[in-house]
Amino acid sequence: MVDRILGIETSCDETAAAVLIDGRHVASNIVHSQTALHERWRGVVPEVASRSHTQRILPIVDEALRVADVRPHELDAIAVTHRPGMIGCLLVGLAAAKALAWRYARPLIGVDHVQAHIHAAFLAEPDMPLPALALVASGGHTALWLVHEPGRTERLGTTRDDAAGEALDKGAALLGLPYPGGPSIQAAAVGGDPRAIDLPRSMLGDSLDFSFSGVKTALLYGLRGPGATAPMPALPPERVRDLACAYQEAIVDVLIRKLARAAERHPVQALCIGGGVARNTRLRERLQTHRSLAGLRLVLPPLALCSDNGAMIAALGRLHWQRGEIADLDLDAIATPQAGGKARRPA
Ligand code: KG4
Ligand code: ZN
Repeated sequence: MVDRILGIETSCDETAAAVLIDGRHVASNIVHSQTALHERWRGVVPEVASRSHTQRILPIVDEALRVADVRPHELDAIAVTHRPGMIGCLLVGLAAAKALAWRYARPLIGVDHVQAHIHAAFLAEPDMPLPALALVASGGHTALWLVHEPGRTERLGTTRDDAAGEALDKGAALLGLPYPGGPSIQAAAVGGDPRAIDLPRSMLGDSLDFSFSGVKTALLYGLRGPGATAPMPALPPERVRDLACAYQEAIVDVLIRKLARAAERHPVQALCIGGGVARNTRLRERLQTHRSLAGLRLVLPPLALCSDNGAMIAALGRLHWQRGEIADLDLDAIATPQAGGKARRPA
């Protein structure tokens, strides 16, 4: 029997909905990004984001159903991100999902956004060999995970301060590059000199945790001197290119070295990545050529499945649905990730 799952995602600044058929076929994956709304603030303004979700959510869900050619009563379950994220944003997706679940008497499934980023790898490669290492790097999260089996994961390390995407967004601001910083640094860095400035790689002893606040401060000091409050100097385009390149390299370097360190400690078969930073071309290149990662099956999901989307929510939601992990209509929005990073164990 064919099954059809609707996935709804509104945890941050993307209003997204998708229909997944039989767990494999992404019949629609509609994403409305609010970047233009938040650009002038150089970050996501929660109130602005939740208002925009309110305006967009129903048309986006309609569009996902229309493109997939599926009627609401043909859905088997409705999956929705309920954690972690901005509460006002999560509530919009939850309200829409609950209304549909109630109106069409369909099971409601609550999905953890970070776990869904990891699970996107199974959409790209359903037979990903296990156990696997997963890196989730986005604007709000940067963590390394061990994937024992689909939906059963264990966190190995996380950021102690900034997320990798946040560091890229803030670095771009220092360099006068547009928001969001990840794509603009990537574009500006092309042809640059990665050694243009000496930037630190915070390895935190032998930890698998991350820290990206130091590299950001080092860039700031490199631009206008330590502790200085002088205005930011105007930089010639070649200097911006070189600094963007060196900054991107420093961040990618840490991500790769931590992955390599984790792979040395845990006997894994595969390595996968997720989150907005997983779109980064330099990261994807380095993963393919890094010697100590050779021999592992590398799963690099398509770009549309890396940044926030409804298909990954539908995919993990389907697994919960198959396991009978159905939520009540009073399912809560929760700002924080699952405690201790441990995903729910199968029943
Ligand atoms: O996963 P995502 O879409 O939303 C969050 O859950 O945060 O990730 C957004 C983050 C932003 O910090 C953005 O700068 C970064 O992903 N990003 C990139 C690239 N595209 C988006 N970072 C590096 N290279 C990219 N190409
Ligand atoms: Zn995300």
